[in-house]
Amino acid sequence: MHWPNCTSDPPWTWIEQVTSHNRDGRVSPYTAHMALIDVSTTSAHYAIHIEPGLITRVGEMIRAVAPAGRAMLVADEALVDLYVAPVSQSLSDAGFETIIGTVEADEIHKSLLSVNHLYGAALKGNLERSSPIIALGGGVIGDLAGFAAATFMRGVPFVQIPTTLLAMVDASIGGKTGVNLPMPSSDDAAAPALAKNLVGAFWQPRVVLIDPNVLATLDRRHFNCGLAECIKHAILADRSLLEFIGEHASALQELNQAKLLELITRCAQIKADVVAADEREAGPRALLNLGHTFAHVIEPISELGLHHGEAVAIGLCAAAHCARMTDRLSEDDAKQIEQLISVVDLPTQLPRPIAVDTLMRAMLHDKKVQAGQLRLVLPTSIGSAEIINDVPDNIVRDSWKAVAASP
Ligand code: GLY
Repeated sequence: MHWPNCTSDPPWTWIEQVTSHNRDGRVSPYTAHMALIDVSTTSAHYAIHIEPGLITRVGEMIRAVAPAGRAMLVADEALVDLYVAPVSQSLSDAGFETIIGTVEADEIHKSLLSVNHLYGAALKGNLERSSPIIALGGGVIGDLAGFAAATFMRGVPFVQIPTTLLAMVDASIGGKTGVNLPMPSSDDAAAPALAKNLVGAFWQPRVVLIDPNVLATLDRRHFNCGLAECIKHAILADRSLLEFIGEHASALQELNQAKLLELITRCAQIKADVVAADEREAGPRALLNLGHTFAHVIEPISELGLHHGEAVAIGLCAAAHCARMTDRLSEDDAKQIEQLISVVDLPTQLPRPIAVDTLMRAMLHDKKVQAGQLRLVLPTSIGSAEIINDVPDNIVRDSWKAVAASP
């Protein structure tokens, strides 16, 4: 399946070219650009602004979509010494009186308990129906703050300021918000401890504000995790994007500003197109789960020590093997996917073997299983994918073995 506008000639708008100046007025050695993407869904219409240095100007941009007054900033606690001060200063300059809450960005804190804390703070701080809740952080923070925004007073304005590559190109766009539930205790060792994103709401942000410069403080491992989602977008929609990532992998990892801006913009545009076509995941949005049905099984296995993006990388390889074994994907395309994942220092195999039986059992716990049948997203080439309901169990087992699961 192809989406409209996901071509090598992407339709985003470069709205301004600015030259950066140092404090002493000298022109700095690079020229910065900014990009603006429109997201148009059935329920909302909003913009994604992508601009180096934007973090110090978010207040005025938020005031353009929510009236000045009270606001709540929900931030990753690791950002307290980095970006909380400039963001809150900018909010104050724009006329907002801001409550600031910080939380450790760990899946365990993406809980109803945390939401309850946010409701309490919002009440104490006299937040009104027009007061924005602003997420500053990665996917965990965005999902949590977004769910509080979707439900407090039946919905208040929500703003996303993603600070990880993964959140910039995926999680912050499209309005999926939610929290995890603890799983009831079980004798089955394959059952995960958390039911991820089981309580949630679709609640679109009023605006998404992306400053690629903040990636300078993201460690390389988390940056690479974001690249896994970029590679996923490319496999789904745009072969030339995959080639771009391969060609400029080192420049991207060294945070070359122009290349990074292009990567984020192209990926955000793909995500915006998918969400515009299918806001509620009734159809093609489910394709964004490429690699994730495999990833969700291995991510919670603590002995593997995988971050989400690393689990997705292995999941993409397993999906590519599966697609090749069912004659959907060519050998060359499968190899190209695996090679790129390895070039950007992401794993293509499980770091230690896990029994296929354990993995298959855990797969059936995933919420994407329908009527006992696995639903897999499989690439059909680089640039297209389809949803398959009837992949035989033995092929899924072989796909796990291809990423080093033990028989
Ligand atoms: N991250 C998958 C989606 O937004 O649908």
